[in-house]
Amino acid sequence: MPSAFSAAESLEDRQASFVVLGGGAALVAALAGGGWVALHYQLDSAEIAAGQTVYSAHCASCHGAKLEGQLDWQTRLPNGRMPAPPHDASGHTWHHSDDQLFTIVKKGVSAVVPDYESDMPGFVGVLTDDEVRAALEYIKSTWPEGERKVQARRSGTN
Ligand code: HEC
Repeated sequence: MPSAFSAAESLEDRQASFVVLGGGAALVAALAGGGWVALHYQLDSAEIAAGQTVYSAHCASCHGAKLEGQLDWQTRLPNGRMPAPPHDASGHTWHHSDDQLFTIVKKGVSAVVPDYESDMPGFVGVLTDDEVRAALEYIKSTWPEGERKVQARRSGTN
């Protein structure tokens, strides 16, 4: 059984091949149609406060009140799925670009990695695009400068 770390890495690999296959372009176009605006590296305190409220109500039950993730989050569950990872700097969230994070939260992991079975729900019809972005800004606000810079570079927003 692969370690959760390799599972996380393989999720990234599969995302990469998804983009190579051209699905990424379609996804970006779909998001542009939905009013997607690139997140900016500079943090906005009002948006972060709003995001914290969204996070507490919709994310904390799985990802933890302190963004610590579920117990043994790197060990696959009996059903073969992964537990909810932390969103603080100890997790993997900061390895993903803004576009990927937005899509994962809005539509669920399978929107980024087709056929990937995951307990991460999509939030279409539950959260607005602004609420999703705010929750992500709140998460980012907890990262040290180094992780934020890496993530911003990956997103092309710095
Ligand atoms: C019902 C439990 C549950 C809820 C509620 C939930 N998540 Fe998740 N989330 C998960 C699980 C489980 C994963 C791991 C997905 C996988 O690898 O299969 C995940 C993965 C993620 C990832 C990808 C992280 C990575 O390192 O690849 C992001 C980003 C994310 N969640 C954000 C959110 C946000 C933001 C919210 C609230 C708006 C939220 N999640 C609500 C269970 C949940």
